[in-house]
Amino acid sequence: MASLWLVGFVVQAAETSGIFTPKNPPEMQPLAHQPTPAFQAAAHFQHGVNLGNYLETPAGRSWGVTVSGDEFIAMKRAGFDHVRVPIGWHHYAGPTPEFSLAPGIFSRVDFVITNALASGLAVLINIHHFNELDQNPVAAAEEFVKIWQQIAAYYRTSPADLAFELDNEPHENATTALMNPLYARAIAEIRQSNPQRTIFVEPGNWGGIDELNHLVLPPDENLIVSVHCYAPFYFTHQGATWTKGETPQTGIVFPGPPAQPLVADPKLNSKKHYQHWIEQYNTLAAENNPSGPKAFTEQLKFLHDWSAYYGRPVHIGEFGAYTKADATSRAKYYEAFRRTAEAQQLGWCIWDWSAGFRYWDKNLNQPMPGLPEALFGKSK
Ligand code: BGC
Repeated sequence: MASLWLVGFVVQAAETSGIFTPKNPPEMQPLAHQPTPAFQAAAHFQHGVNLGNYLETPAGRSWGVTVSGDEFIAMKRAGFDHVRVPIGWHHYAGPTPEFSLAPGIFSRVDFVITNALASGLAVLINIHHFNELDQNPVAAAEEFVKIWQQIAAYYRTSPADLAFELDNEPHENATTALMNPLYARAIAEIRQSNPQRTIFVEPGNWGGIDELNHLVLPPDENLIVSVHCYAPFYFTHQGATWTKGETPQTGIVFPGPPAQPLVADPKLNSKKHYQHWIEQYNTLAAENNPSGPKAFTEQLKFLHDWSAYYGRPVHIGEFGAYTKADATSRAKYYEAFRRTAEAQQLGWCIWDWSAGFRYWDKNLNQPMPGLPEALFGKSK
């Protein structure tokens, strides 16, 4: 079976790594000929960074992130080839039936796209945190399609290095099964004004890797599938407050085991799964430790094989570790993850540029410790 295989900027056929049993519904047909336009486009979306916590905020609100034109140059100099831009378009949509987008959001997005493209970065814009769609995908479907119609019309003449990602992390009621026909509708709409544009799609369960098995895509040849992976979650999200009480415990290293056993946080005492995880974290050697590369290696191999079988490029649109983790562990984690992704010929995009999972320290105007080496193999 064919798979993503980068040779310079051309993508060619390769073999799957072993026996692969396709599980998708029969309507999901492998694409026959390679390289498709999607594989050619994927070559421009290999090493990315998310401009997180910036344009996805509700209208008029700031989550503390600002960005200057120079920062796009810094991204490119660092070695990134693309920037993913989360955007809360729905916060700027007027009433039904037109859901007209306020011009103000376009000018903010234009600033990002113009500077990113001028710096030599490809750009991926999405709809981020569209909660109404997650809660009631049937009721919000019309608005979703109308928003994409407007974005597509506005950017129809933009360079090919601008790509659209339909929806960030569908979850709750926005299951993959429900999103499949909605994606097909949005893609058909976008194709009216953008016949050649590269479009990224994410499966349900927060862009979950296992959800690829439920994806049904139209036979369009310029679609890239994007997933998110934050395994090992207790490491990457340690100290995060937005995880419904799952991750209060800090001091978790990568890879485990720690020099001194970690005592489980009493707030998590009742969670059997957590106790088991800590027990294994404290005792298992690095190669089998749950806070180690084992947490994601098999999943990334699956992505490779799925991509090879179905003839669709796969991109990891988010992975990363919160700055509450110690700097050495963060660097080791980013390095292990990106090396594993690259070994499986997958494009990657870190969360994030200058917010809580940051690469760039805006105060010092320099990268966070160890991350250039971790991501770009400098001084190795
Ligand atoms: C969310 C961010 C969050 C990150 C890590 C992203 O998808 O948009 O708000 O910080 O995931 O949890």
